[in-house]
Amino acid sequence: MAGARRPLVAGNWKMNGFRSSVAELAKTIEGFDGALAGRIDLLVCPPATLIAEFAERARGSKVAIGAQDCHPKPSGAHTGDLSAEMLRDAGAAAVIVGHSERRADHGESNALVRAKAEAAWRAGLLAIVCVGETRAEREAGRTLAVVAEQLKGSVPDGANPANLVVAYEPVWAIGTGLTPTVSDVAEVHGVIRRELAARLGEAAAGTRVLYGGSVKPENARELLHAGDVDGALVGGASLKAEDFLKIAAAYR
Ligand code: 13P
Repeated sequence: MAGARRPLVAGNWKMNGFRSSVAELAKTIEGFDGALAGRIDLLVCPPATLIAEFAERARGSKVAIGAQDCHPKPSGAHTGDLSAEMLRDAGAAAVIVGHSERRADHGESNALVRAKAEAAWRAGLLAIVCVGETRAEREAGRTLAVVAEQLKGSVPDGANPANLVVAYEPVWAIGTGLTPTVSDVAEVHGVIRRELAARLGEAAAGTRVLYGGSVKPENARELLHAGDVDGALVGGASLKAEDFLKIAAAYR
């Protein structure tokens, strides 16, 4: 069934980028050639300040623009927050929810992540739900249990391949240059797939599960072809069009 899933390579720019960065996006758009675009989806998630401008630049291209977080509510007295509807209005097609940096920096619980995913759907956005264990959890042999629990708590009922992408991002691999072995990635992705199947039935077979954490041009081919991996969520290496496109080219 893996062949039925269209790979997704997504860039998470995190808190990086200025209006001048539209030039880097333009390079990504221009370098994403028809052959590759026929095979995979490419998504760039800049900081919220750049969504509208990036979406404008990407209009009519094969590159989609996404956001990095949203508030569960559609509007109201929530100073500094952005609703999924606002992100959609700015031109986003997707939103990352439950990234480990938000779980850690902002104390986001599984229940909150789940509410954010539901908000994404309410606004017509694809929800990219992130899960992943810390180093301590891995060393304690709790990786599979932690990931299964996060998934159970963070993925709302009603998920399907058109509205949900799961990203497995081991916290200790993010921004460190460290990566799990291919067999470790395959093992966790296998558990995610089984958990999704228990929850969603047949829809699980079509739902994409990405790997994220120190994906670089040098390791992309190996990691992206690990068992049951349907693409990548790329941090640092997505900031440079050349590197981002080299990662996407793992599917060439
Ligand atoms: P790096 O690719 O910089 O390790 O970040 C991964 C990540 O957190 C993507 O969401």
